[in-house]
This record gives sequence, C-alpha cells and structure tokens, in this order.
Amino acid sequence: MLDALSRLRTTALDELSHATSPAELEAIRVKTLGKKGELTLILRGLGQMDNEQRATLGAQANAFKEEFAQSLTARMEQLKQAELTQRLEREWVDVTLPGRPRPPGTLHPITKAQNEIIAIFTAMGFPPASGPEVESDWHNFEALNIPPDHPAREMHDTFYLPPSPDGRKRLLRTHTSPVQIRVMEGRQPPLRAIAPGKVFRCDSDLTHTPMFHQVEGFLVDEGVHFGQLKGLLETFLIRFFERPLPVRFRPSFFPFTEPSAEVDMGCLFCAGQGCRVCKKTGWLEVLGCGLIHPNVLTNVGIDRERYTGFAFGMGVERLAMLKYGFPDLRALFENDTRFLTRYA
Ligand code: PHE
Repeated sequence: MLDALSRLRTTALDELSHATSPAELEAIRVKTLGKKGELTLILRGLGQMDNEQRATLGAQANAFKEEFAQSLTARMEQLKQAELTQRLEREWVDVTLPGRPRPPGTLHPITKAQNEIIAIFTAMGFPPASGPEVESDWHNFEALNIPPDHPAREMHDTFYLPPSPDGRKRLLRTHTSPVQIRVMEGRQPPLRAIAPGKVFRCDSDLTHTPMFHQVEGFLVDEGVHFGQLKGLLETFLIRFFERPLPVRFRPSFFPFTEPSAEVDMGCLFCAGQGCRVCKKTGWLEVLGCGLIHPNVLTNVGIDRERYTGFAFGMGVERLAMLKYGFPDLRALFENDTRFLTRYA
C-alpha cells in the first residue's frame, strides 16, 4: 500500500505540474480525490488494516492529500497568471501612436439635407426607391397624365435626348414623379415609397439651376385620404425644421394629382411678420402634393375604383437653404470649401 501511495503521489504531482488548463486540473482532482479517486480508495481501505499499518499509511495519505491540495491551488494560480500575461500581451495598445483624425471631407449640404429627409420618412414606414435620370417620355409625362400636347409640358423646360435604339423618346427627367410610376408598374397596393434624386430643367438664373434635387413620396391603398397626407407632411416639416411651425395647404394644380395643393409653412426668418425671404407674405412654399389622379392609377394597372393614393414632391435645395440658413443657391454648386465646411 505504501508503494501504491508513493506511486500515486509521483504521478499525480507530475500530472499537476504539466496541466495546461483549469479543465485538466479538475480532471486530475477528480481522478485523485473524487468519489472513486485513487487516494479516496486508499483512504477507504484504511478501515480494514491493523492499527500500526493504519497509523503509518493514514499519516502519509493525509500528508499527501494536503500536499496535493496545495499543488493544485498553486498550479491553478500559475495558469491564471499565465493567461493574464498572455491577455496583456494580446491586448497591448501603443498609446503613443497618433490617433485617427476624422477624415477632412464633409457631406455636401444637399446630401445632408437629403439624408435627413429620407431618415424622417423611412422612420414613418416609407421604403427608399430610385429610378433612372435618363427617362422615357412615358414615365416622365404620359403615365403621369401629361399627354404629348398637354400645356403642363411647357413648364418643365425639358432636356430632350435622341431617341433610344428602339425608337422610344428619351429625356432627362424633369421631376422625381416618374419613380412613382416605376414603383407602381407591375405591382399591386398597398404600395409606398420615398425617392430622392437629381432632376433636370433647362433653366438657369439666380434661383434656378439646370440640375437640382427632389424627394418624391407616395402611398396607395384602400381608403387613403387627404387628411392622412396633411398629417404626414405637417409632421415631416416639424421634424425636419425641429420646431413647431404653422403649415397651410393652398389649392393648386398638377396633372397627376386631383385635388392638388401647394404646402406653405410659416416663414422661419420673420415668424410670419413678413421679410425678404418670404417676400413679405409670412409664408414659405415648400412642397407640392395631392391625391394621385385616377388616370395615373389606371395607367399602371391599379383599380381606380378600389384604391386611392397620395403623392408629394419637394425641392431639396430649397429645404436645405431654409434649414441651414444660407441665402444663395449658387453657393451649393461652386464647391468653395469654406462654404461647404461651414454648413456641413
Ligand atoms: N412633380 C411635381 C413637381 O416637380 C411635384 C409633385 C409631386 C406634386 C407629387 C404633386 C405630387 O413640381
């Protein structure tokens, strides 16, 4: 028995010193001191021995038990220490390295305003959509209830392009409303989307640039009415300008909406008193909107008896100028970095 104990001692202590993880240590502990552990068995056998044997073996076994426990704790400490050292090695950071500065570029004020507009409408459940800048006459005009000889075409100052190889008329889109058509074509309600993008009109002066940006939004479903449109746009304007604002809807005309309205908000610069920006009216015109004309629904294969919808469109340059408070449209296109960083 003494032999067995001393062999056990040698192997157990040797194993402990070679263990490389807490799990291994635990396995060695169970093998030695567990219910069926080797030392446990030896201790249990003491009962059958005579007094003298029991005294020597018992003393040695208990001494080993003590020694084993101590080695186990010591090895566990070592392993923990080693792990910590390794971790410190791994997670070492050179605090003397230079930081990573913010890249010197900034978002253009138009991009920034556009992102803010889209964020507000996506939060209200409108998924983003897009369409091509080179459009067909059908999408830009005809499907939107503007036939070839319609007088509304004149207001659009269209850039026409040579027809496509299949003979279809092509142009640079004059508004983002064709995206409505592209989203509705071949689909059935409920439908909604918000569509930002560049639009083009052959017009250039103090307040017009031949390329500018619009954001279009629309929704088609059963039972859609003007009250929902009104609530949506009021909420949008208050969120975009981050302040309570009076909003009014004025009757207007667009061939693709009926009824149509233009939306004004109280002037931000004179609180309705009348100033240069609002041309002394106290109001700023910011949006066009209306209920989608039933002819438009028919043009895209949606049942005009069952469904109604609303649509709205806004100019991003104008909203950006009002929100960030810069007076001149042209500054947006001159790429003067002093201007761009100031309003970024
Ligand atoms: N497309 C119109 C424009 O460019 C704006 C608009 C969009 C009006 C949707 C009504 C509904 O002026």
